[in-house]
Amino acid sequence: MSEPVVALVVAAGSGVRLGGDGPKALRPLVGRPLLQHAIEALISGGVTRVVVTIREQDRAQFETALADIDVPVDLVVGGAERQDSVRLGLTAVAASGARIVLVHDAARPLVPPAVVRAVVDAVRSGATAVVPAIAVADSVRTTASGRSAVVDRSTLVAVQTPQGFDVTTVIRGHTYVHEHELRVTDDAAVCELIGEQVTIVPGSRESLKITDPVDLLLAEAVLAARQG
Ligand code: CTP
Ligand code: MG
Repeated sequence: MSEPVVALVVAAGSGVRLGGDGPKALRPLVGRPLLQHAIEALISGGVTRVVVTIREQDRAQFETALADIDVPVDLVVGGAERQDSVRLGLTAVAASGARIVLVHDAARPLVPPAVVRAVVDAVRSGATAVVPAIAVADSVRTTASGRSAVVDRSTLVAVQTPQGFDVTTVIRGHTYVHEHELRVTDDAAVCELIGEQVTIVPGSRESLKITDPVDLLLAEAVLAARQG
């Protein structure tokens, strides 16, 4: 049997930009919660155990939604910011004894299993921090100096999840950012802050992040195309 791979799926946000009732992770996409789509893709890509961060008030709803998942699932109460939820979830990941963890947004339900496998394989091959990324399709400008200036898009990539890590390394990184009260936008960034090299593998334009209502429409179209 190959080495266990734990996925830490963060789902403790409040989904303000999407709007509507209930947790964003449980919003239906063609009849099944976003979270279920995400976990099934992770399992197809090699994940053997799942930790999900939730808000305490949503626990019963998550328990119902996750009843049929056929790998072990632990629920952990998240924190105020995404990085707090990840840090708290990593405690449960460490308790599982696994060496490889994938940190994934429940808001990214359509990640292709091939992307998940590529991330896992890179960590198995010795990378300590791995991100799937895609080329930036739009022209990009920066407004940092107060007036706009073009940025060379050919040197930029847009980063997705799941991001894969050696468990000890990502815990060390999250402990460091917590102790120094730093804010980060993703988990590879915490590893970079403690001097680790971040490895890039190809992501997928189908791996949409559900942020605004239009993203649900796009995700439905992707699923319809997959079902032929
Ligand atoms: N997340 C989390 N804990 C938080 C904030 C976010 O676990 N305190 C999770 C979300 O549930 C989501 C992922 O991190 O799966 C990415 O966050 P985002 O897309 O911003 O989701 P929300 O924070 O829920 O949405 P919004 O920012 O619109 O409120
Ligand atoms: Mg958010």
